[in-house]
Amino acid sequence: MRRRDFLRRTGLLAGTAPALGALAPAVRHEQPRTSDHERHRTFDPMSWSDVRDQFALTRSRIHMASFLLASHPRPVAKAIERHRKGFDEDPATYWHDHFQTAEPGVREAIGTYLDADPAHIALTDSTTMGLGLVYGGLDLKPGQEILTTPHGHWSTLESLNLRAERSGAKVNTVALYDDPAETSVDMVVSRMRSAITDRTRVIAVTWVHSSTGVKLPLSDMADALADINANREKEDRVLFCVDGVHGLGIEDVMVGELGCDFFMAGTHKWMFGPRGTGFIWGHPDAWDALNPIIPTFGPSVGVWIGALPPDTPHITPGTVHTPGGFHSFDHRWAVGEAFQFHMDIRKGRVQRRIHEMNTRAKEALSSMPHVRLYTPLSESLSAGIICFDVDQHAPSDVVAHLRNRDIIASTTPYRESYARLAPGVLNNEGEVDRTIEAITELS
Ligand SMILES: Cc1ncc(COP(=O)(O)O)c(C=O)c1O
Repeated sequence: MRRRDFLRRTGLLAGTAPALGALAPAVRHEQPRTSDHERHRTFDPMSWSDVRDQFALTRSRIHMASFLLASHPRPVAKAIERHRKGFDEDPATYWHDHFQTAEPGVREAIGTYLDADPAHIALTDSTTMGLGLVYGGLDLKPGQEILTTPHGHWSTLESLNLRAERSGAKVNTVALYDDPAETSVDMVVSRMRSAITDRTRVIAVTWVHSSTGVKLPLSDMADALADINANREKEDRVLFCVDGVHGLGIEDVMVGELGCDFFMAGTHKWMFGPRGTGFIWGHPDAWDALNPIIPTFGPSVGVWIGALPPDTPHITPGTVHTPGGFHSFDHRWAVGEAFQFHMDIRKGRVQRRIHEMNTRAKEALSSMPHVRLYTPLSESLSAGIICFDVDQHAPSDVVAHLRNRDIIASTTPYRESYARLAPGVLNNEGEVDRTIEAITELS
């Protein structure tokens, strides 16, 4: 296909303009954004009730499962609406006017929140897409193996299964705890250590388990891995890969502090990002081990059509590993607003609030004789998810009972299923107490 045909067929005939984000300059924040003034005029991020007011979530129910899929807060909804209007009025022109700055702006916002270089952030549509890309694309030499745990989500386990089926790679599994309520840092680290062999090249874990509520001590695990890796060649190092979706938007940490090589998360859960968005962060030293699976658009296309030199600085691991094709850009380009929303509230306040709500609920549940709490009480081993059982009641009955009281909870989608609550910044003490009262009724 000739270059001009390519541009026409992809709807990008742009005359002299660059194609597919190829020439995205290092200019950032040029996409239409909500001004700081506008943001602060509409709500006071220091007030939890003002934060709650930013959401269209119905007031007639108590939302204890809103981590599943975000309701868009007003700044995110407004940004989506602005982009949608522009696309609906004239998609080609709107795309053409913004593609060079919009994705760099999103990477910049994520990078600021995580204290990460935007060049190391690839944009995805979900946690699942990130897991599929990483576990499907990591280089494995013959004989090298993957280690995982039984605590992870289907999206991790199935990504690994698919990889194993396709390539014959061996996947080993180690339980990092038996009784989640009794988990300890030492137990997790020593079980991980003892399951790693000379053949282990990848360890695939989940930061906060949606199966039990346990939060893994990632930095302790990373320290143990650093000891192991100290005696290995670069191509044999154990790569520490993390599904981070239920820690992101809760824990006040910078991604570099976690000690992982790859961190995959959706931004449409605790971050309140647009539905259908996510990212992969990779450590600068780790990208060499990952092969892209889905063709990227962006600067690589510019090189392909001869508009950019092969060594253009616009090509970064983050752009190369961002799957191409046209996306729901009205959502993707509004991701930065969600990260800014959290930063306006302040990461430390978000963490404290979520832990306070969870501790309040867990302390009450742990004192009830008819309730068995699976999630650890310790804040260092839990985050925003609480798993429990009620004597004589199936988890689905517990959730149905709560639903009759206008409380939205969930069951864990695992073979061994529990009832689950996830108090967050959109809840308050009164809502936690009403939920506990409703569970008391089941005694
Ligand atoms: C631990 C975990 N990882 C991944 C997912 C899937 O996330 P996404 O919808 O972003 O793919 C979920 C649940 O939805 C989950 O609980």
